[in-house]
Amino acid sequence: MNLADQPVAILGTGSYLPAKALSNDELSTIVDTSDEWITSRTGIKNRHIAAEGEHTSHLATHAAKKALEQAGITADQLGLIIVATITPDTLTPATACYVQNNLGAPQAVAFDISAACSGFLYSMKIAENMIQTGAVDYALIIGAEKLSSFINWKDRTTCVLFGDGAGAAVLGASIEGTGRILATDIGTDGKQTHLLNIPGGGSAHPTTEENVNQHLASLSMQGKEVFKHAVTRMKNSANTVIARAGLEPSDIKLVIPHQANLRIIDAIADRLTIDNKKVFVNLDRYGNTSAAAVAIALDEAHRQEKFERGDKIVLVVFGAGMTWASAAIEW
Ligand code: ACO
Repeated sequence: MNLADQPVAILGTGSYLPAKALSNDELSTIVDTSDEWITSRTGIKNRHIAAEGEHTSHLATHAAKKALEQAGITADQLGLIIVATITPDTLTPATACYVQNNLGAPQAVAFDISAACSGFLYSMKIAENMIQTGAVDYALIIGAEKLSSFINWKDRTTCVLFGDGAGAAVLGASIEGTGRILATDIGTDGKQTHLLNIPGGGSAHPTTEENVNQHLASLSMQGKEVFKHAVTRMKNSANTVIARAGLEPSDIKLVIPHQANLRIIDAIADRLTIDNKKVFVNLDRYGNTSAAAVAIALDEAHRQEKFERGDKIVLVVFGAGMTWASAAIEW
């Protein structure tokens, strides 16, 4: 068998949301907004905010432990840990290094990837390939974000949209009864870097007093433009993996999209000709948690038994970069 044909399965999933919830009504006491505006424009009602001293690596570790437990894999069996994040604990070392230490996974090579909301599915693709080539037996992929540390809480156009959280999955070779990843698609359009970014804190705009005062280390977004790209890219990417997997939209039990905006999700379902009831949504409770969003949604849908062994599901995401990715999975 060609190495690339070695099927890879998701063996377990986990997620974690910090304890503190922040409702739209509470946000309305901080910035000039309202539950009515946020709900009607986005579908978001609530988000979770990490505690002081609770870092991205802590959220990631909690989610990872649940995924490992469900997979029946111990941390010392892991050969790879990838954390997808745009809100790392530190610029270096990688958040994945802290997670490796927290879990006690000394055999695992550990690194981060930065692909914004698409990071979890980018990680899935890397892990799938490393398992297929025999480089590792088991991989842990995590989407984890503490976006609350990179939000300008005075900017109502962004602060109402985002939240903190983490989701994880353990991957290994597919054996009888474990399902398999059927097809993946990943893509990038570097012409659109200006539409959504955190401009400060890197080498372009280092941490100077002036840059901090201008909130350059906070997330900045041209919402309307991002919206249009999101719909087109996610529709095309989902269609690509459905076709690559040899499926029709009617074969899909559940679509799990990036959780950014209910209007984007509805537009994609419409364009894919997939009934809204077959699309998983939890953004009302968590807001947009970037790389964590699709991972948390996958774990929740799994634990709520929205699909079962043999069902075909599609994950589809979109984020800053612009980046996009999809995966068709037989569970
Ligand atoms: N509360 C009240 N009013 C607000 C708020 C708020 N929180 N935010 C903006 N407004 C006002 C604006 O000031 C504007 O007022 P004006 O007409 O007097 O100028 C009005 O509401 C309309 O603002 P728009 O920006 O045009 O609102 P829009 O309908 O485009 O919705 C939104 C904005 C929700 C951000 C939408 O564009 C969107 O969801 N875009 C996609 C974002 C997205 O998916 N991002 C995630 C990518 S993932 C990643 O990589 C992190």
